[in-house]
Amino acid sequence: MKVLGLETSCDETGLAIYDTNQGLLSHKIYSQIEKHAEYGGVVPELASRDHIRKTLPLIDEVLADAGLTKQQLDGVAFTSGPGLVGALMAGATIGRSLAMALGIPAIGVHHMEGHLLAPMLEEKQPAMPFVALLVSGGHTQLVRVEGIGQYTLLGQSLDDAAGEAFDKAAKMIALPYPGGPQIALLAQSGKKREGLIFPRPMTDRPGLDFSFSGLKTAFLTALHNALDNKEFDEQFKADLALAFEEAVVDTLTIKCRRALEQEKVSQLVIAGGVSANRRLRQQLESKLGQIGASVFYARPELCTDNGAMIAYAGAQRLLAGQTSDLDLAIRARWPLSELRPLTE
Ligand code: KG4
Ligand code: ZN
Repeated sequence: MKVLGLETSCDETGLAIYDTNQGLLSHKIYSQIEKHAEYGGVVPELASRDHIRKTLPLIDEVLADAGLTKQQLDGVAFTSGPGLVGALMAGATIGRSLAMALGIPAIGVHHMEGHLLAPMLEEKQPAMPFVALLVSGGHTQLVRVEGIGQYTLLGQSLDDAAGEAFDKAAKMIALPYPGGPQIALLAQSGKKREGLIFPRPMTDRPGLDFSFSGLKTAFLTALHNALDNKEFDEQFKADLALAFEEAVVDTLTIKCRRALEQEKVSQLVIAGGVSANRRLRQQLESKLGQIGASVFYARPELCTDNGAMIAYAGAQRLLAGQTSDLDLAIRARWPLSELRPLTE
């Protein structure tokens, strides 16, 4: 079964074709980041307009790359939430219309389910059950995954998402959006500086919830102190980035370990934009390796928003006979726990 996937929930237009026999045939991502950069964040109306402009040409490109015509597609999967409503509408309308014109089934996919299943596109795949750490610009969640569509929320951020914390910290030191990769790059030239240690929020109490807004305040305080003391220079900036990245990575690692032990599961999947972070991957592998657990993730381009994860997740549901009716609603908010299991 050959499924076209469309991802348009935020600021990336992602298109892909996934074949349930042959795997990923082609995928393309067009990022709108430059369009939003001057505003310091995503402008929803600009995002919707750009998805409308880019989706059709990209569909032609992924078809050409896969050596297929539209008529050879067996299904269409599009992100139907959570995300920006206008942006979601753009992809859903195009995906739906195309499926109708071709007389093939369509399915609306949950964006975070797409992220969560992205490691299934790689050679090293986890077996269920596993625990997933979903870390993106809008979500920080620990989820027990029993099967596709069988998700139990174990913990989540009570305020900022991990990616959001990276983006806000980056903005404070005038790094461009999105800040995660920028902080990670700058941290490479950072050194440990005495007294510059950020808290590991909520790790000293039981439970699997997170909180990243205090870390942002600690970052701002350290920055102001350095400016007041005339200590702030390029090296200090890099040291700040390193201290911040270490605090986020340590916090995530402590909670992941706790989740695996609590759930008595030895496989961890990390997914979403922040899972592209190299320090996070390395630290999870070394610290969780010590308790005999393995870590699974997708290649970096499939960690951030992409069409391949939507094509994959949609294909699994279409294969199981699930489809979305014509009146399927877009959902700006949509808890993972509300999803249907693959087999009912
Ligand atoms: O999953 P994603 O592409 O979009 C959402 O669904 O939100 O995640 C984007 C987030 C941004 O906050 C970005 O700063 C962060 O992922 N990110 C990273 C890295 N690459 C992307 N954060 C830390 N380190 C990275 N290498
Ligand atoms: Zn995402």
